[in-house]
Parts: sequence; structure tokens; C-alpha cells
Amino acid sequence: MNRQTTSNTRSLIWGVSTSSYQIEGAANEDGRGPSIWDTFCRQGKVDKNDTGDVACDHYHRYAEDVALMRDMGVDAYRFSVAWPRVLPTGRGAANEAGLAFYDRLIDALLEARIEPWLCLYHWDLPQALQDLGGWTVRESADWFADYAGLVGRRYGDRVKRLATFNEPSVFSLLGFAFGAHAPGLSDRDALHRVIHNVNRAHGRAIDVIRATVSGASVGAVHNVQPCLPSTGSTEDREAALTFGQYWNSAFPDPQLVGRYSPLLEAALAPLIAADDMATIQQPVDWFGLNHYSPVYVQADTGSVIGCGFGPAPAEVPRTAIGWPIQPAAFCETLLSLSDKYRLPIYVLENGTATRDQILESGAVEDPDRIAYLDAYISEMHKAIDAGADVRGYFVWSLLDNFEWNAGYSQRFGLVRVDYKSLKRTSKSSAHWYAETIRANQQRHASRDTTVAGNNR
Ligand code: FCB
Repeated sequence: MNRQTTSNTRSLIWGVSTSSYQIEGAANEDGRGPSIWDTFCRQGKVDKNDTGDVACDHYHRYAEDVALMRDMGVDAYRFSVAWPRVLPTGRGAANEAGLAFYDRLIDALLEARIEPWLCLYHWDLPQALQDLGGWTVRESADWFADYAGLVGRRYGDRVKRLATFNEPSVFSLLGFAFGAHAPGLSDRDALHRVIHNVNRAHGRAIDVIRATVSGASVGAVHNVQPCLPSTGSTEDREAALTFGQYWNSAFPDPQLVGRYSPLLEAALAPLIAADDMATIQQPVDWFGLNHYSPVYVQADTGSVIGCGFGPAPAEVPRTAIGWPIQPAAFCETLLSLSDKYRLPIYVLENGTATRDQILESGAVEDPDRIAYLDAYISEMHKAIDAGADVRGYFVWSLLDNFEWNAGYSQRFGLVRVDYKSLKRTSKSSAHWYAETIRANQQRHASRDTTVAGNNR
């Protein structure tokens, strides 16, 4: 094992992450209502017309999945609640059968001594709310606050770690500027409304969670990645600066420092009511970071924001899904975020899509995932040694799952899922991750004993 996969500093929380639509399946069971992703999948927008109807069937197999995590030795599990499962039309009467599913999941986690980290929104908006305008209308912040209250009251006795939104800049840009994610729009005005309403919804939900969950530890989960120009041209360099304001700061800046970047402030000014910025900027306990790679950007006159994703330089290595592998950017990102927002950071997603090899014995080998995780975890330790306040690290993902518009073509799991039989097989990376966690925990245990000894 790479020497740097263990650290001298405080002990970290080690976990794995998933999200509701990507793993649960049971799309039409026990009263779940449709989400915008159910609709999007039926519009021919996803690779091979895949859907989340069955996914990993986690809804029925959650106990087996918790056992896999227990065997891996993780400290924590981040999952999301499917809003349309607990409130089939997004508001009004709650669905008891849907609520009971998360009771069973949370109880199984606690029984296995795995801390639940609950995310309220990982992109599966109830379709009924989309039909009313979804995030483009101001009422969406009220709907989200009510939903947060329902979740807080129901699970807050057992769940203390709560996140509002997962990657708001990804779902707003991919969903409302590039048309690549649900609800599939390219509309600048809608994009700006979504950005502001999601920020308002975040602030309102933080307030509600604090009021309903005693001892809550709250935050949001942001993707932050260096935005680099695809070429040295002036257009691409300007495009990268514009893109960065949407991608990296449209949500963390108003939420954590109470203001939009100059470009967004100008664009959003007509939408900002008197108390909005105060509503948005609520104290949080941590910064949730998702990071996979830098983003390459090019000018694009056809894009509603004048820029979009561009190619990475040919020499940069890529993962199976085509994302650049540049671990040093992870260290840089951790250091700059720590410096900018001064909050403890939990890395709530990091991982890679790979082409796994299935041996005759049935064992699954994924050396590329091990190499990627090893390199990225090493960079995290470098950042910690250089002063970044990182408190935890979660691999995306526990299981192979529905990778949004790529359907099931991309496998991000530590555990392989055979989508026909739904059989789970831990890959070599799962064994490697278990060992990495153990090595880190042991190192801390021995350091703690030494420290305690010295104190006596
Ligand atoms: C992130 C998403 C997550 C998953 C990974 C690969 O952007 O939060 O749901 O798709 O990428």
C-alpha cells in the first residue's frame, strides 16, 4: 500500500455514497410517485433507454447492501431520500410506506454501527412539482422546507448528519442550460431562477432542520473542480472564468459568504428580493465536497451561457467515462476551499468508472479503480498535511448503479452488480478499501494510545 494512504493527523470518517434514483428501483411500489428522472428516461434521453425502474433493487436488498458495508468496515454511509417516495406529489399527504423504508434502512445501519448521512435532494424532484414549475418558481423553497421538516421530524432521532442538496450546480447547469439531465432544458432565464430558488430552498431547509433535529450537523454537497480552458485562446480563457462562476461558486458563495460572484449578481439582480440573501446564508457545520477531476471548458456561442464542456489536452489520462485523471487538482481544491470558506470539509464523493475484469473464478478485478483511489487519497493526505481541515472521505459508489444519462454503461461501484440477476460481488477495490480503512484506523488507535501514554 502506498505510504501516503495513511495520515498522521486526526482520524477521518471513511464512508461510501449512493443516491436514491441511482440504486433503489421499486419505482412503482408502495405508493412512490414519479420523479423528473422517470419522465426524462422515457423521453429517449438516456443511453440505451435505460431507466431507474429496477436499478440495483436496493429497496428490497438494502439489508444485503448494509452487510456489504459492514464487511468493508466503513464508518458512515451517505444516501439520499427519494422525495417522491415519501411525498408522492411533492407536498401534502406523506406516504407512510415510503417513510417506513428509510426507517428500516436507518435502523439496519445503526445496528451495523454505520453512521447514516442523509441527503435530502439528489436530483429526483417529484414530477408533480415540475408540472407546477419546479425550481423555476419561488414556491419551490416552501415545498422543500416542508419536505425537510417531514424528514427531520421522522428520522432526526437517529440521523444527525443531514445535507440539503447534492451538487446543485450540476443539476442546474446540466438540467437547465445543457439539456443533458432532467428536465432537459436549455433556457438561461430558467437557469437563473433555478440557481436562486435552490439557494433559497437550501437556507430555508437548514433552518427547518435545526428546528426539528436536536444536535443536527448540517451542510450542502458541492462539486468543486478547477475549470481550465481547453485551449490557450482568449475566448476559451474567458469561457473558463465564466463557467467557473456557475460551476464552482453559484451555490457555495451565497450560502457561505452571502453574495453572488459579480457576473451572477448582475444576472440575478431582478430575482433577488429584500431578505433573500439573509435567508440563503445560514450557518452550516461543514462543507461537503464532491471531486473527480478538473473540468475543461470552451467558448460556445450555441450555449445559453456562452460556454460549455470542452476537450482535455490529449496527453491527460482519462477514466472509462472520459473524465481526466489529475489527482494533484484534488489537493489544490481541498487547500483552496479550506482557505476560502474556513469550514471542516467532508469529501462526500470521489471515485471512478472503470472496465472491470471478471475472472473465471467469478472474482472481479478493477486495478484501475484501486490506482485512482490510491492516488486521490494520497493527495488528500498531502492536503491535510499542508493544513486543509478534511474530516472524512466517502467513495462514490458502494454499488455499480444508474449513471444518469449514461444509464448502466458506466460502473462506479466498489461492488459489482449483475443487472440481470442483481447479484452483488465485491470487487478487488472493495477489499483494498477495507484494508485502507483498517490501516488508517489502526494507525490512529496506536497514535492515540501513545498520546494517552504521554499524557499520563
Ligand atoms: C456525481 C453525482 C453522482 C454520480 C457521480 C459519478 O456528479 O453526484 O450521482 O453520478 O457523479
